[in-house]
Amino acid sequence: MRSYVLRAGRSTAAQQRALVELWPRYGVEFTPQALDLDQLFARRAPRMIEIGFGAGEALLAFARAHPGMDCIGIEVHRSGVGHLLLGAHEAELTNLRIICHDAVEVLQRQIPPASIALVHIFFPDPWHKKRHHKRRLIQPAFMDVLATAIAPAGTLRLATDWEHYAQHMREVIDAHPEFRNISPGTGFMPRNEERPLTRFERRGQRLGHDVWDLEYFRR
Ligand SMILES: C[S@@+](CC[C@H](N)C(=O)[O-])C[C@H]1O[C@@H](n2cnc3c(N)ncnc32)[C@H](O)[C@@H]1O
Repeated sequence: MRSYVLRAGRSTAAQQRALVELWPRYGVEFTPQALDLDQLFARRAPRMIEIGFGAGEALLAFARAHPGMDCIGIEVHRSGVGHLLLGAHEAELTNLRIICHDAVEVLQRQIPPASIALVHIFFPDPWHKKRHHKRRLIQPAFMDVLATAIAPAGTLRLATDWEHYAQHMREVIDAHPEFRNISPGTGFMPRNEERPLTRFERRGQRLGHDVWDLEYFRR
């Protein structure tokens, strides 16, 4: 059961060129073997992953603001990957790599256990209809996968603009023994100021959507 549907998205000419010319510098092919992250980044540093980065605005800003961290973006849509490649090149980033594949398989196969300090999942597809809820990324089995990848004392941050999904996240993650909700009071965090307003979030704002931020500590 995939958490996405691959649409025949339109990439711009610049994005298509980036997918050819910049992919060798930033791209990592999916393979079912665990990566050697020290070798991949040619250093040892704390590592973060953003799952479903869309056009990559948040990941680009994060990688720029945290040169001491190594960042891995996972996204299935090639136009978004092309967009982020262009941004990474312009910013001359050396601490970013991109994997264009299903994040569930990437985390299960390619990411070594306990190797990640921080995971961001911002505005995962909400799958509004009840019969589609099973396609939501945040499910108990996927939390086991995340708990394996995230190192003890690591952090998981999420955001959604769909209230039902926000409550679903609370139910699923709060119940997981390896994660502790660190939001004070209500269980939701104030907006993470580091998270730039993406095109997706801006569109939600225009539609009058609220946003729910969540943060968890990996025990
Ligand atoms: C609603 S968009 C949000 C994009 C971005 N995070 C933002 O805030 O603008 C969700 C994104 O997650 C990606 N996605 C969904 N399931 C995925 C998966 N299993 N692996 C990788 N990417 C996935 C989709 O392709 C889509 O780009």
